[in-house]
Amino acid sequence: MRCSVCGREAVIRLRHAGLRLCPEHLVARVEKEVEGAIRRFRMFSHEERVLVAVSGGKDSLALWHILTKLGYQADGLYIDLGIGGYSERSREVSQAFAEERGLTLHVVSLAGQLGATLDELTRIARGKPCSLCGTVKRYLMNRAAWEGGYQALATGHNLDDEAATLLGNVLRWDEGYLARQYPVLPEEGKLVRKVKPLVFLSEREMAAYCLINGIHYLHEDCPHAQGARSIVLKGVLNQLEDRYPSTKISFLRQFLKVRDRFQPPEPVLLHECPSCGMPTAAEGACRFCRLKERVARHALRVTDDHGTSA
Ligand code: AMP
Ligand code: FES
Ligand code: ZN
Ligand code: ZN
Repeated sequence: MRCSVCGREAVIRLRHAGLRLCPEHLVARVEKEVEGAIRRFRMFSHEERVLVAVSGGKDSLALWHILTKLGYQADGLYIDLGIGGYSERSREVSQAFAEERGLTLHVVSLAGQLGATLDELTRIARGKPCSLCGTVKRYLMNRAAWEGGYQALATGHNLDDEAATLLGNVLRWDEGYLARQYPVLPEEGKLVRKVKPLVFLSEREMAAYCLINGIHYLHEDCPHAQGARSIVLKGVLNQLEDRYPSTKISFLRQFLKVRDRFQPPEPVLLHECPSCGMPTAAEGACRFCRLKERVARHALRVTDDHGTSA
């Protein structure tokens, strides 16, 4: 198999792009796609500071690597959710990545901020781990970016993630979500701009990019991901992609062309949470602060039950 660009030995075949690439040209393609998405969607400039949310997985670490290589001012943020050994291992991988390259990684612990790990919170709030995780991650990411004075918050969502989210939104014809599904969400008050520079790059390309560049990432998935709807949607799309290459990329690209036909939800008036000062649509305290109160009440009850309270 020969590289479509230079004719040397190719290491990957990208049927959806009609390309076979050698390591050098795979790296060049990935970086060009990222730069292209940043410019096309006006994600951020070289003068702005970007906070990359890193999970220890291939996408976010590769994204951080690419942004610094392209000369952007990018620091990292790792949220330690306290999901047993999985969180410990992903934190170690993220810290090792930052240390090897002399990059700044902020580490925020959910237990420190909320008073409970995600596993404890799931028991206390009797919710689904992934949905609670989404709520607390979104809050902590935005707060870290806002307090750190960053102009943009970047996540490693790739083509496979975005196509699966899109399929999920279409299956429910969720117009509000469809209108908001975009590679960049503008800033609004204390809500920092959200950007996804990897939207047009597939999981396979990102894995190959890491391998070629010696980026060590955690190969393990979050234990709560098993059975999650997003995994099923990705499986369905992979089957379609095998049969009809470029299904995912055209699904997403064509959607972006017609997206403005969907009605955005009525703008909700945001106010400041009386407890933490961050924006919220909820009456009174924000969802994070309400969860925090619930955790605190639970801790009090547990102390009472054990007869050790004052
Ligand atoms: P996921 O929701 O796990 O598919 O992750 C999507 C993106 O969210 C990743 O590419 C990261 O940018 C970010 N992310 C996920 N988990 C964490 C974490 N624990 N700390 C910081 N960022 C994260
Ligand atoms: Fe959030 Fe798995 S990473 S539940
Ligand atoms: Zn080549
Ligand atoms: Zn709050």
